[in-house]
Amino acid sequence: MAILVTGGAGYIGSHTCVELLNSGFEIIVIDNYCNSNPESLERVKHITGKEFKIYEFDLLNYEELENVFLTNDIEAVIHFAGLKAVGESVKKPLMYYHNNITATLVLCKVMDKYGVKKLVFSSSATVYGVPHQVPILEDFPLSTTNPYGYSKLMIEEIMRDISKSDAKWGIALLRYFNPIGAHQSGLIGEHPNGIPNNLMPYISQVAAGKLEQLMVFGNDYPTSDGTGVRDYIHVVDLAIAHVKAVKHVMYNQGIDTYNLGTGRGYSVLEMIKTFEKTSGKKIPYKIVERREGDVAMCYADPLKAKHELGWVASKGIEDMCEDTWRWQVNNPNGYEQVTLVSSTTK
Ligand code: NAD
Ligand code: UFG
Repeated sequence: MAILVTGGAGYIGSHTCVELLNSGFEIIVIDNYCNSNPESLERVKHITGKEFKIYEFDLLNYEELENVFLTNDIEAVIHFAGLKAVGESVKKPLMYYHNNITATLVLCKVMDKYGVKKLVFSSSATVYGVPHQVPILEDFPLSTTNPYGYSKLMIEEIMRDISKSDAKWGIALLRYFNPIGAHQSGLIGEHPNGIPNNLMPYISQVAAGKLEQLMVFGNDYPTSDGTGVRDYIHVVDLAIAHVKAVKHVMYNQGIDTYNLGTGRGYSVLEMIKTFEKTSGKKIPYKIVERREGDVAMCYADPLKAKHELGWVASKGIEDMCEDTWRWQVNNPNGYEQVTLVSSTTK
């Protein structure tokens, strides 16, 4: 029996594959590499010393997906595959809705047909829109402002309807806060295409001298130092939460939603300071206008995941910065400049 991981070559997926394999699960990965590189999965094999099946195709392809269910014994699915850039989703809504929502419908249809009714889905804290207060609880009102966010909200609704229609489904909707960091080995991590949109990859490329300076989006928010506050969560902690969630859905029916964050917020300036300390590099920055759509503060109340999944984040922002920096130094061009795994582990 195997866990099927869609989007397993991506940033969070590859870290989750490591934790699943280390916990003794057999896995099968599907990815079309539209935002990743097959090298990440080679490195997962290297880190764990384990082999697994990989299928390269688009999840929108019903026949190919059906073939995976026909030829393998799958007990549950972790569904990461999706497009995730907020700005791009505003420019290309059709592409986002089709890729994220239609592919999820295809997946659920095939799962239903083959009686595989255990699913863990990657949602996002973006579904809370502008929260009326922090920390954010799972039952806060939901809203969003962009096609990416709507795709997550709509998929959540679809999952709630599926669960209502058939009690045999066991579904966990995981709302991630701000995933950052990399595996401690320095072998897998996040490598955004082009200029990064998110804070941590931007900081790390400034530290590496690839970008000149960081633009800090606003210092007039009602926060301790005026800059935006977020709940940064180490990607390995997040990966471990998926192992707990998949075990939970295997033994429980119904649908549950969990915030995955540390419960603590850090400002942009605090993140810069910590990164400078752990990397020993100066991060030049300039305060600029607020970025449209940003909220002042966003951090989780993660107690539901603690009580029901037995999960708490264990890594702090020093670990997150240190591991991001190790990944950046070892892989200045991400997976693009394919180095032999053995030479990167020296
Ligand atoms: P990622 O882009 O690194 O990984 C997604 C993977 O899915 C990639 O390997 C991509 O090639 C694959 N993929 C996309 N569409 C596909 C399709 N139609 N068929 C097959 N493969 C496909 O992103 P990530 O950061 O690992 O995020 C994983 C999931 O978590 C996404 O659904 C994302 O929306 C969600 N999420 C991410 C964040 C974040 O900040 N990283 C925050 C909240 C939620
Ligand atoms: N920031 C800067 N400069 C930058 C980038 C970011 O000052 O160059 C600031 C932002 O204003 C914000 C903080 O750093 O205060 C974090 O910004 P990110 O872009 O890293 O993350 P967001 O919280 O804006 O968004 C992330 C994901 C979204 C997801 C959202 C909620 O990118 O996909 O978290 O989970 F929807």
